[in-house]
Amino acid sequence: MIRNYYGKITLSIIKPDAIQNGYTFPILMMIFKAGFSIKSIKTMKISKKLAIKFYDEHKNKYFFSHLIDFITSGPVLSMILNKNNAVKDFRKLIGDTNPTVAKKGTIRNLYATSLNMNAIHGSNSNENAIKESLFIFSNSSILL
Ligand code: RTP
Ligand code: MG
Repeated sequence: MIRNYYGKITLSIIKPDAIQNGYTFPILMMIFKAGFSIKSIKTMKISKKLAIKFYDEHKNKYFFSHLIDFITSGPVLSMILNKNNAVKDFRKLIGDTNPTVAKKGTIRNLYATSLNMNAIHGSNSNENAIKESLFIFSNSSILL
């Protein structure tokens, strides 16, 4: 049951720019080294419909259409990651949304292309970690 993992999982997506630029393995190494284990993983192309649902909180922002165009522009790698304090620790590992502000050595500092194409997604709350995991993975495919 995914709810049993509340507080211990986060949903991550390696975004189209990082996949295109060949950064998948370096990013996965950083995730392993930081102590996360992969509970579920798949490559996929996010549909417009799923992208709009996924980024619903931003639907009224001026950058929404760019966000949807970018996340649907190419294949991504989606993962449910497991660790104590997963959401908080993962946000620390990926760094600030804007790569020019992201701390040195964070994933976005090292591998993001720009604010719009910022290499990787991490859930921003425990509730959203569960919600986003169920958007991407069907219940029966989650290895929990
Ligand atoms: P994400 O959801 O993709 O992991 O990124 P985040 O939590 O760090 O940032 P969030 O505020 O949720 O924004 C989602 C994505 O929208 C783009 N963005 N553009 N001012 C802007 O033009 C702007 N602000 C945000 C970013 O690509 C961000 O990842
Ligand atoms: Mg976000």
